[in-house]
Amino acid sequence: MKAIITTAYGSPEIFKVDNVAKPTAKPNEILIRIHASSVTKADTMMRTGKPYIGRLMIGLTKPKNPIWGTGFAGVVESVGAEVTQFKAGDKVFGENIDTMGTYAEYVTVPEDCVVAHLPENISFEEAAGMCDGGVTSLNFLLNLGNIKPGMKVLINGASGALGTAAVQIAKHFGAEVTGVCSTKNVSLVWELGADHVIDYTQHDFTENENSYDLIYDTVGVRSFADCRDALTEYGVYASPVLGMPLLGDMMVSSVFGNKKAKFSATGALPAKEIKRLLAILIEIIEAGNLIGIVDRTYSLEDVVDAHEYVDKGHKTGNVVLKPSVAA
Ligand SMILES: NC(=O)c1ccc[n+]([C@@H]2O[C@H](COP(=O)([O-])OP(=O)(O)OC[C@H]3O[C@@H](n4cnc5c(N)ncnc54)[C@H](OP(=O)(O)O)[C@@H]3O)[C@@H](O)[C@H]2O)c1
Repeated sequence: MKAIITTAYGSPEIFKVDNVAKPTAKPNEILIRIHASSVTKADTMMRTGKPYIGRLMIGLTKPKNPIWGTGFAGVVESVGAEVTQFKAGDKVFGENIDTMGTYAEYVTVPEDCVVAHLPENISFEEAAGMCDGGVTSLNFLLNLGNIKPGMKVLINGASGALGTAAVQIAKHFGAEVTGVCSTKNVSLVWELGADHVIDYTQHDFTENENSYDLIYDTVGVRSFADCRDALTEYGVYASPVLGMPLLGDMMVSSVFGNKKAKFSATGALPAKEIKRLLAILIEIIEAGNLIGIVDRTYSLEDVVDAHEYVDKGHKTGNVVLKPSVAA
């Protein structure tokens, strides 16, 4: 099968298209013919091997998994003898966090990993990025933000993979949602259901008269200190982008003051919790309250272009790779 091979850390040119043996499913695994895989911001960070601490998990001197990619959507081709929940022909999607391998025509994943049947009302392309944007934002809104009807939620970076999902999920839970994005994405964020939209090129949300119960900074460009005055008395600032300042803010705010700074590494949660979140996400999708936003679709062979685009930090929603074998 065709696959993208990665043998070093660095710029997008490290990726090489190659032909490798098609995997076969072990007794507890399913073999999936991939129709779409996601190219995420996390993929591009892992590609660089920075921050170095991340290499403890993905390989110290070179990637331990030669085939990159975690998010996928496709069709089950065959299943191992012990598999009970899936059969050949099932449409599935998910995230193969431990062994990756989704920048390819086929991947095998354990039945008990983050994999589920594809809801009928979304496409493979939409689904490929759902575990990155959707599950992460659900984790932040539900587990860190304790989202409730009527809560005032501000989503900074409302046009990214995490942000486009967050606007819709927060609306699903009955929050009053303010989305922050640049001029070109204002109409999209309205269409996703935001009650208020702030163009960050025109206005600084920390300087208006409004305050928010939850500020979810999906792109990590505003600090807890920046946002403190824009939070309500027991407000929460949460960001998926961890740096030393946020780490310090989390430690200090966990002891002092009513306003809290929070972070979570969603991919490091126990698989059982990610699967719980995915089941909730599927209910939201099936209720018609969450669609996937796909910015660009590249062929598998054009992975270098896809990474160069995501590197720029201005994608709208998700970027997807499509193997040519997929119909
Ligand atoms: N902790 C976790 O569990 C976890 C999980 C998944 C991802 N992440 C991280 O989450 C971050 C977000 O990922 P993503 O894929 O959603 O987005 P991304 O690719 O990092 O960001 C793209 C979006 O951010 C917007 N943006 C850029 N600068 C902005 C600014 N100053 N203010 C507001 N919006 C701005 C861009 O809109 P414009 O083009 O209009 O500027 C674009 O739509 C990444 O750093 C990723 O590594 C963390």
